[in-house]
Amino acid sequence: MSDELQTIAAKLGLEKYRRHIFLCTDAAEPKCAPREATLRSWEFLKARLKELKLTEPNSLVYRTKANCLRVCVDGPVAVVYPEGVWYDGCCIKWYLLN
Ligand code: FES
Repeated sequence: MSDELQTIAAKLGLEKYRRHIFLCTDAAEPKCAPREATLRSWEFLKARLKELKLTEPNSLVYRTKANCLRVCVDGPVAVVYPEGVWYDGCCIKWYLLN
């Protein structure tokens, strides 16, 4: 890892995160769900993580918009690492919030 990357990662506090959720959102070619549905799902995710205090400064769950997770059915689709559990219909069952 380059020094610059290490510096940025440290600044973001990435070493503290326990889970990372990737949500298919605003894809260039939305195939798993309508773009509007993916954007609503993203906004819900952000609000819910904040409400449950799983974001800064606690930094327990990191979230990333994915352009497409290549499993383009029944979306919005999400995957949570390190478990590697996939969710469809993003009604994410939020097991990570328990
Ligand atoms: S467009 Fe959502 S997974 Fe491919």
